[in-house]
Amino acid sequence: MKIHFLIKVKYMLKIKSYFQRPEKGYDPVPLAYAQKYTDFEFKKVDSELVNKIGAFSNGFANKTLLDLGAGPGQYSIEFAKQGALVTWHDISKNYLEIASQKSRGEKMNIKFSLGYLESAQGKFDILFNRICWYYCINDYKFAGLIYSLVNSGGYGYIIVNNENWLFNKLKTEKWIKRVYLSINFWLNDFFDIKFIHIHPSHKKLKKVFSQFHFTYINIEKEKLNTVISFKK
Ligand SMILES: C[S@@+](CC[C@H](N)C(=O)[O-])C[C@H]1O[C@@H](n2cnc3c(N)ncnc32)[C@H](O)[C@@H]1O
Repeated sequence: MKIHFLIKVKYMLKIKSYFQRPEKGYDPVPLAYAQKYTDFEFKKVDSELVNKIGAFSNGFANKTLLDLGAGPGQYSIEFAKQGALVTWHDISKNYLEIASQKSRGEKMNIKFSLGYLESAQGKFDILFNRICWYYCINDYKFAGLIYSLVNSGGYGYIIVNNENWLFNKLKTEKWIKRVYLSINFWLNDFFDIKFIHIHPSHKKLKKVFSQFHFTYINIEKEKLNTVISFKK
């Protein structure tokens, strides 16, 4: 009985996703928040990061690129400016409208695709995923999806807020929330049971990516993030 309950709860995020459909108007990001995040993020686009990814993946020109969980599209636009054929994918209609408006008028190639991270489809030369990993339903399955979305010989660049980010955030929370988030973190990290959107540890990310074959992979801790760069 208890085990059954645990199994059902383990799939809570998946069950929720059946009912909360972006194509039927579900948007987890309120417009006011989306606008604030957009203003903040467009001011601090990291051109060094864009150049780094360009150098790592042998240039962007005419390469298909998936910006997975792309938000307001600040990086989608940068990649498209450099000649990439970009697909923006995100759950938020508010961000879709913002990103399409920001890219309008400029001659660039961006396709828009609305949906859960898990509903992304296709094969791409480059996959970019920045600070939205924790919204995935399951870390192992999401890594598998990422792997399958990249062409053989293609590249991935993934930036994940890791446990350092989470523990830093916990410092500002009330004790009850600290306990709640800590329990969920340990459940996900040790038992792969994910009830809520919670950050994975650097160690778990290493384990998750060790199940695939890559021509090259580098997994590095950079302060609050884990950065995963690979060639398939
Ligand atoms: C912190 S923002 C990061 C956005 C962008 N990657 C960036 O670098 O600014 C997190 C993004 O994840 C998206 N998101 C949240 N839950 C999602 C889900 N279940 N499936 C797809 N995208 C999701 C949000 O709409 C938001 O755009």
